[in-house]
Amino acid sequence: MVASVYMRGVRHGFISTTLLSQVDASIGGKTGVNLGEYKNIIGTFRQPEFVLCDHAMLATLPESEMKSGLGELFKHAVIRDRNLFFDISALAGQAMARDPEVLGDLIRRAVRIKAGVVRHDPFEKGPRRLLNFGHTFGHPLETHYKIPHGVAVAQGMIIAAELSVWMGEMANPELKLLEGALEKAGLLTAYLLPSGVTGMISRDKKSESGSVNFVLLRSVGRAVIKRISVTELQAFVNYYNEKESQSQ
Ligand SMILES: NC(=O)c1ccc[n+]([C@@H]2O[C@H](COP(=O)([O-])OP(=O)(O)OC[C@H]3O[C@@H](n4cnc5c(N)ncnc54)[C@H](O)[C@@H]3O)[C@@H](O)[C@H]2O)c1
Repeated sequence: MVASVYMRGVRHGFISTTLLSQVDASIGGKTGVNLGEYKNIIGTFRQPEFVLCDHAMLATLPESEMKSGLGELFKHAVIRDRNLFFDISALAGQAMARDPEVLGDLIRRAVRIKAGVVRHDPFEKGPRRLLNFGHTFGHPLETHYKIPHGVAVAQGMIIAAELSVWMGEMANPELKLLEGALEKAGLLTAYLLPSGVTGMISRDKKSESGSVNFVLLRSVGRAVIKRISVTELQAFVNYYNEKESQSQ
């Protein structure tokens, strides 16, 4: 972000050393810093001149950071590519063990998805918003519980998938499919949503006339953007937290 604002922007490129940045953060030119409880609320769009993603650099990456990257890798598949979703589910163990062929293949496919979306919508006016799937609930969990970004996004995806079922957009077996895959990958967590989350979401998403745009699922591999009223969102948050606290 500094490179994009210093002297109104200087030439820069990225050498990406985490799985999360190789599959997601290094692509698309979006930068941001947090302010108070809001993630990435100050930021810019500016494309780097190059991005270098070498999976050999992941050899020293801690396990918890690999898992975080796996969360964002799943996200790309869940919004756009059902086949990739099944492949990640089957190969997560090998990816975590840093199998070079598996990592190379999964990273390449994730980059293609992200680059394809960003190319058509560099300033996030339309379809690029789909990439935020799982983040609306994930960001408050990340800030409140101080958990890695991709782990929070994974739980955020489950909550958004539950909301999709609750709203009648998606059938329950698809939610179970997603839960099963994230559980097998060690990414299923069950944090309650922090109090005040609905207010945070509506301020963060610049709510207009009492409703916000939300990324939901039709099925695993197909995300859609829907408007949802803040009242409905609050009712869902109450339902979710009650259900989770009973099962704990
Ligand atoms: N701009 C975007 O489009 C976008 C997309 C997704 C996520 N993000 C943001 O990216 C941030 C997380 O970035 P990140 O996951 O790359 O983490 P990071 O840069 O914070 O690194 C995580 C940790 O791993 C260590 N580390 C990094 N590479 C290593 C290596 N090769 N070996 C050993 N240790 C290594 C770092 O020192 C750090 O402690 C989040 O704040 C998230 O919001 C941005």
